[in-house]
Amino acid sequence: MPDKIILIGFMGSGKSSVGKELSKKTGYKLLDSDTCIEEKKKKSINEIFKDDGERAFRDMESEFLKALALSEESFILSTGGGMPCFNDNAKLIKEIGKSFYLMASPDSIMERLKNDTSRPLLRDGNRYEKINSLLSKREEYYKKAADVIIETDGKTVNEITGEIIGLIK
Ligand code: S3P
Repeated sequence: MPDKIILIGFMGSGKSSVGKELSKKTGYKLLDSDTCIEEKKKKSINEIFKDDGERAFRDMESEFLKALALSEESFILSTGGGMPCFNDNAKLIKEIGKSFYLMASPDSIMERLKNDTSRPLLRDGNRYEKINSLLSKREEYYKKAADVIIETDGKTVNEITGEIIGLIK
């Protein structure tokens, strides 16, 4: 079993929920890049975007990933949805461990995020259009960073986790 498992995918694709379940089933520690950055900077993601801007946040993500590349511990990493799409992160993600792209359709993402207020990139404008256009720009990066693509539409967290476990055993 690989000792570093990385979950990538769009906001609302289930990375955090699947990460929690995978962590329970493997006993590996769960890391969430957003939470680690928020703890380090002592600010929410919304505040970081507002005070420092997206570019600075992207550099924080890369810094976090580079530090993690040196870790010798086993872990499940749940990444922020934009992480594979900036700097050298896609390459780094592949080098660090076994990466799974949790692929979700715009409809299911929209459904999961309909009441969400924690994602600065989806705050203004037509949410469905934003999801659609961001997702189509990002798809190639997700695929570049992924070792395995997992289709998530219509599946439960347990089913997705089971699929991943079956692939890493
Ligand atoms: C972002 C996704 C978020 C968070 C930030 C930016 C993105 O993480 O990193 O709001 O650019 O897609 P989640 O994918 O956990 O929502």
